[in-house]
Amino acid sequence: MEISTRIKITKLLDYQENIAKKIIRIADYVFKKEVPIKFSGFLLSGPPGCGKTEIAKQAAASISMGAPVKIFLLDGSDIASPKWGEAEEKLKKAFTGSAESNHIEKKIIIFDDIESTLMSRDVEISKEWHFSINSVVFHLLDDIDHLNTLVIATTNKPDMVDPALISRLYPIAIPALTKDQLRQFAHYSLENGAFDIETEQVLNSIEAMINEGKIKSLRDIEHEILLKIVEMVSEN
Ligand SMILES: Nc1ncnc2c1ncn2[C@@H]1O[C@H](COP(=O)(O)OP(=O)(O)O)[C@@H](O)[C@H]1O
Ligand SMILES: [Mg+2]
Repeated sequence: MEISTRIKITKLLDYQENIAKKIIRIADYVFKKEVPIKFSGFLLSGPPGCGKTEIAKQAAASISMGAPVKIFLLDGSDIASPKWGEAEEKLKKAFTGSAESNHIEKKIIIFDDIESTLMSRDVEISKEWHFSINSVVFHLLDDIDHLNTLVIATTNKPDMVDPALISRLYPIAIPALTKDQLRQFAHYSLENGAFDIETEQVLNSIEAMINEGKIKSLRDIEHEILLKIVEMVSEN
């Protein structure tokens, strides 16, 4: 598990910014006003490579709670543990902090790709291990100190996530990216890449791929840009 104060600040695309703003507004209100309504956090769902993790990180980085905020990045690999009970312990530690620290700290837990950890009880492959993990997480969410702790979970596969978990978090669904959004990201990545070659040709070829529907995610764009740049550099 990573305690990250090192989140690199990136400029979000317009649709990402809108989602991040929503998260930030709600979180700020809940934390600052100490509202009596229990609010555990958000579940960002959407296709792979649409920016869920990036939105979660940037939103977490901007949430100001009037106190230092720790950001925990948690994913399946942090939790998977060969020893019985160890995964549950790690989770409890992320949510409740270490027993030694008796001061209350504000924290945001980014629980990335939760379907890999918290599969639905209806999914055939989720065995006893998942039952155990799920019930630990449900209790942690129910007992969350919501004035000091906020969860931002992400998933590519909301169908695989236990409905009991979904009902505990506020859902934000990101639709498949439009060609305009993909184009915006291609422009943005090439402008900010500080590449030492003429990038217009790269942009044209990426745009052609977007128009033909061959590119669907931000990650595809990053890969294609890299491939094209390398291709051009090695031709020179
Ligand atoms: N606003 C942005 N600025 C720079 N890179 C971004 C931005 N949004 C997404 N990315 C990059 O695009 C890729 C896909 O985003 P990511 O958040 O990992 O998607 P998801 O979590 O939905 O699979 C990642 O490499 C990420 O760093
Ligand atoms: Mg992700």
